[in-house]
Amino acid sequence: MPAIAIRDLRPHELGFHRQMLWEAVYLPPEEKALLSRDILETPEVRRYIENWGRPGDRARVAEDSTSGQLLGCAWGRLFTTDNPGYGFVDETTPELSIAVIEGNRGQGIGGALLRDLNAVYASEGIHRVSLSVATANPAHRLYERIGYRTVHQDETTRIMVFGGF
Ligand SMILES: CC(C)(COP(=O)(O)OP(=O)(O)OC[C@H]1O[C@@H](n2cnc3c(N)ncnc32)[C@H](O)[C@@H]1OP(=O)(O)O)[C@@H](O)C(=O)NCCC(=O)NCCS
Repeated sequence: MPAIAIRDLRPHELGFHRQMLWEAVYLPPEEKALLSRDILETPEVRRYIENWGRPGDRARVAEDSTSGQLLGCAWGRLFTTDNPGYGFVDETTPELSIAVIEGNRGQGIGGALLRDLNAVYASEGIHRVSLSVATANPAHRLYERIGYRTVHQDETTRIMVFGGF
């Protein structure tokens, strides 16, 4: 893994945040190649970053310590019962999204970001974080290693939770 620093996403880095949202939309590679970026404007997807800075929002980025390049981002946001995210479990549990730039995956950056975001929330008294992951996405193995466990699963998606549930 390159030497990285993990820190808060800065207000002028919302373009990077949007890029990471695109990366976090999972489809098998051959289908993702055909997907339009317009998906970022749909209510189901843009709600993960729009009006960033609401109570409960936390976003952490991994920055290459040598070049300063941003390599990945993990963020969490609270949703409501009326407008639940795909990984919603309740209104006090932030839902996590994560992506690492292609070419930098599989080196431990995603794991470091996950542990960091969980620790940030824990330091604020929030001890549970949820996420949804496509059943076909190998990322579920990483989440299990970190300590997330599956609380709901259907043919396409699983919801996983870190912390007490
Ligand atoms: C998932 C992701 C954030 C993990 O970051 P990372 O830096 O690659 O993770 P680490 O190196 O710490 O851990 C490796 C694990 O990440 C996952 N992973 C690695 N490459 C991956 C890829 N191209 N796509 C999805 N998951 C991947 C696997 O679970 C891998 O564990 P394994 O070796 O047992 O299969 C990153 O791979 C990624 O951005 N993938 C595409 C976007 C995505 O799927 N986001 C999550 C949506 S729920």
